[in-house]
Amino acid sequence: MILESSVYKEIFGPLIVHESQKVIKFDTETEVVESSLVNNIPREEIYEIFKDLAIVIPLKNEKLHLLDGVLKAIPHRCPIIVVSASQKDIPNHFKMEIELVKHYYSLTHSRVMIIHQKDMGAAEAFKEQGYMDIIDENDGLIRFGKGEGMLLGVMLAKAIGARYVGFIDADNYIPGAVNEYVKDYAAGILMSDSDYTMVRLKWRHKPKVMQRGLYFRRRGRVSEITNRYLNLLVADRTGFETDIFVTGNAGEHAMSIKLADLMSFSSGYAVETHQLVFLLDRMTRPNHPEKLKDVYEQGIEIFQIETLNPHIHEEKGTEHINEMILVSLAEIYHCEMCTENVKKRILEELYSRKILKKGEIPPKPRAMAPTGEIDIERWFKKVKKRSDTLVILE
Ligand code: GDD
Repeated sequence: MILESSVYKEIFGPLIVHESQKVIKFDTETEVVESSLVNNIPREEIYEIFKDLAIVIPLKNEKLHLLDGVLKAIPHRCPIIVVSASQKDIPNHFKMEIELVKHYYSLTHSRVMIIHQKDMGAAEAFKEQGYMDIIDENDGLIRFGKGEGMLLGVMLAKAIGARYVGFIDADNYIPGAVNEYVKDYAAGILMSDSDYTMVRLKWRHKPKVMQRGLYFRRRGRVSEITNRYLNLLVADRTGFETDIFVTGNAGEHAMSIKLADLMSFSSGYAVETHQLVFLLDRMTRPNHPEKLKDVYEQGIEIFQIETLNPHIHEEKGTEHINEMILVSLAEIYHCEMCTENVKKRILEELYSRKILKKGEIPPKPRAMAPTGEIDIERWFKKVKKRSDTLVILE
């Protein structure tokens, strides 16, 4: 794969944030490309990573055809972990998902597991380790929410020995795009000089159906706003304006397990913005710098790759969009480094969009502490012993 070189990057403490890099040629082999403006990541190296790159699919009542396309598009050697929050009452959507996954496995023999987010064993395994941040006070099981599903997925990825974990939403209409996303993750991982790596995707276009045909939008309704305030947050602190952040809501992203171990995850849809805010807050001013010696030596590299494929997924309406804007801006509003000026501007944005009423402030999103210190072998043993939904096919 040929990508634009990362010429420009911003450095905040150990964080190295690379500017957006476009995919220029999707599929290349090992050959010398004579240009300092591009990076060639050969196909052979990309394929070598797959066995270590687990793909987590968070899933909640999506169309089975879409899940089927996503499963089939993920490269064969990547282990797949489907974390479902789908309905189990009649009609039992989760049961249909299990059938689909089993059928997929019988055809491909591609390594795959599926678990329900309300799995009894998973909840007990967290509780046994004293990790209550993910537990729902009402039913004692794992809370619903995309961030919670992702965190469960990370734990399972680590448990099966993956070195990297990537996330792909289940509602993607274009299997070819999904296949690209996984390869973009691998390319980002290969570009990194650090064991602490995150790769965030920025789609090139998000097409919208209009009366006169498809219109290829460049910006998303939520990400444009989140990115503006993330950049303002940094500018207000450093005194230098920047437009470095372009992936504040990147649902499609990957990271090394070494980085995942250090990350806090946020509840629901705040999760992607939270990752950046958490890294800015905690890594630039850590509570225990001595514990982060290796992180400081190696740095944390964040790549932002602009895909070749357009992103076409289920559109879930204005209320859903407003909810995502609210939780994303709430993450920025409540972070430690947020200034009064940025807070004021966020409130004006939310009031003018009528997402909040004048005088209200955004509720503080719930954060879940890093899971790196959990004894993963014991955790997984417990999950398997007490699970009532886990299906592992390998
Ligand atoms: N396991 C689990 N648990 N999965 C969930 C949950 C949950 O509680 N809620 C949603 N999902 C799944 C959906 O089924 C889908 O596969 C994926 O998470 C994304 O959820 P959507 O509801 O489709 O979100 P979206 O498409 O509007 O937004 C996506 O893109 C944004 C950036 O454009 C999400 O990935 C956002 O997090 C992201 O910011």
